[in-house]
Amino acid sequence: MKILVTGGAGYIGSHTLVVLLAAGHDVVVLDNFSNGSREALRRVQQLSNRDFNVVEGDVRDRSILDRLFADHEPAAVVHFAGLKAVGESVEDPLSYYDVNVGGSMRLLEAMSKASCKRIVFSSSATVYGTPEYLPYDEDHPTRPVNPYGRTKLAVEELLGDWCAASPSRCAISLRYFNPVGAHPSGRIGEDPKGIPNNLMPYIAQTAVGRRERLQIFGDDYDTRDGTGERDYIHVIDLAEAHVAALERLENMSAHTALNIGTGSGMTVKELIGCFENILGRKLPTSIAPRREGDLPSFYANPSRANEALDWKARRSPEDMCRDSWTWQSRNPEGFGPTAID
Ligand code: WQD
Repeated sequence: MKILVTGGAGYIGSHTLVVLLAAGHDVVVLDNFSNGSREALRRVQQLSNRDFNVVEGDVRDRSILDRLFADHEPAAVVHFAGLKAVGESVEDPLSYYDVNVGGSMRLLEAMSKASCKRIVFSSSATVYGTPEYLPYDEDHPTRPVNPYGRTKLAVEELLGDWCAASPSRCAISLRYFNPVGAHPSGRIGEDPKGIPNNLMPYIAQTAVGRRERLQIFGDDYDTRDGTGERDYIHVIDLAEAHVAALERLENMSAHTALNIGTGSGMTVKELIGCFENILGRKLPTSIAPRREGDLPSFYANPSRANEALDWKARRSPEDMCRDSWTWQSRNPEGFGPTAID
């Protein structure tokens, strides 16, 4: 199948491209490079030994979308393009609604016009909000507590109504937990702009000497060791879930939301300890106050995705840390000038 991948130059998008190409799909990438990297796409082409089309543009631009659908006639879409920082969404909610919801609306309009009926959407466990029970299953109430989560839920609702309007349309929203790690080759990986918000890239940048010390945001939560607990999933497991979803879309009815996690939680200290074991040395850390908006603990019940997609996360926390380190140690400045070719 020819697949349109929006946001394909980003962290999860680029890893999904590698898996899609290895599975024999043809792809066309749409990216405005606001957060993705041209270098990442160059390396995806090297890794997969496959060429693919790249269209530079914004998912909110109907004229670019219409021309792309006319030129490439994709049979399905994997939609990553969007803004994804929780804290930023609180400070700038209008941009988050404009890009995440507005962009998805323009995409669905272009898909409708081109009779493209299948889409896999990059959603997030943030749609659940404060846990009423754990692990989260897909029947857990969806009460997001920040604008980012609300935009993800709004797009899921949009997809439900878009599918209901025409029986041949189908959509799967994949609710990611905490994607981490990198392609085992170390050629592509997570390269956040500026100071990393997320734990794993901060650990990796501390390990390579780019950051002086890792702050642990709170050690007084009601968890095994007092630090926050999350369901970390290897980005290649996540990428494989997208390919499994694409290949099963036709058997699904209308819109389905699925949890994509391992089903196990790890605390901040446990992840740091795992990374230190890979390194063979301790990392400089300090205990800092809790980060506003953080939940103490959440993790997935992934059984519905395991069943519906015949998919299961296979990679271990050691794989996640080892692959993160391979990427960061070979690319101390990410895709910047010092990356080792
Ligand atoms: C994990 C744990 C922090 C940084 C967010 C988004 C979510 C998704 C993934 C987009 C928490 C602790 C972190 C640090 C720390 N993004 N931490 N020191 O907040 O669970 O999820 O990213 O889809 O939607 O909400 O991930 O990696 O930021 O935090 O102690 O320097 O690590 O307190 O307990 P989070 P995270």
